[in-house]
Amino acid sequence: MGDTIKIITVMQQKGGVGKTTIAVHLATQIKELFPKLKVALADADPQKSATVWLNNGAADSGVSVHQVASDVEGKRLMDELSSIDADLVVVDLPPAIAAISMRAVLYADLILVPVGASALDIEAARHAVDLCKEAIGLDPSKKFLLIPNRVQMNTAAGRELRDVLDKWGPVSKATLCLRVAYADAVMHGIGINSFAPGSPAYQEIGQLAEEVIQMLDLRL
Ligand SMILES: Nc1ncnc2c1ncn2[C@@H]1O[C@H](COP(=O)(O)OP(=O)(O)O)[C@@H](O)[C@H]1O
Ligand SMILES: [Mg+2]
Repeated sequence: MGDTIKIITVMQQKGGVGKTTIAVHLATQIKELFPKLKVALADADPQKSATVWLNNGAADSGVSVHQVASDVEGKRLMDELSSIDADLVVVDLPPAIAAISMRAVLYADLILVPVGASALDIEAARHAVDLCKEAIGLDPSKKFLLIPNRVQMNTAAGRELRDVLDKWGPVSKATLCLRVAYADAVMHGIGINSFAPGSPAYQEIGQLAEEVIQMLDLRL
């Protein structure tokens, strides 16, 4: 990918782990914290959840939404992403490790892998982690970050998730807990930054946004 646009890809082959949730809240939060950045969301999921979410919004998030990979395999993905007028594009992927995920990983500067706290969730993330490591083996300038999501600190699984993930690779400092605000913001078509400013969810996403921006070495 060119030097000008930074690409963040949210990837995990399991459905329901929080890809769309993280893509939308992160993009809108980055826009709020770094208003000078042109932030875009590229929706590569044929279900178009992210597009519907932000297009239903009452408030203008300032994040432009683009549908990409209309051919499902994403053969034009590079052209589609390059033609977006943005400094930073967050790509939301469908639940699959298929051609589209491979391509999105190929063009990503940073790959985010959401992981839930159940044993099945952790096991499911292994394939995504393997793909990230393979991609970084070929291009060491790429980075990936595991994101503990839907964590319940009052459960042993929730408390131990970070220890398990630390053995696999870099884990975000931010832990995203199981919070209704994350889900409720969808119904209002807005990100957590507008839905619940100052809330614990807002703090978590804010911390993740700061971390991601630092990892990308963006000139702000
Ligand atoms: N941290 C969280 N707290 C509460 N609900 C969450 C959280 N993350 C995701 N969800 C909910 O879980 C469901 C699946 O999330 P979603 O982002 O659509 O997953 P994916 O895009 O990986 O399929 C949605 O209903 C979403 O609102
Ligand atoms: Mg999704």
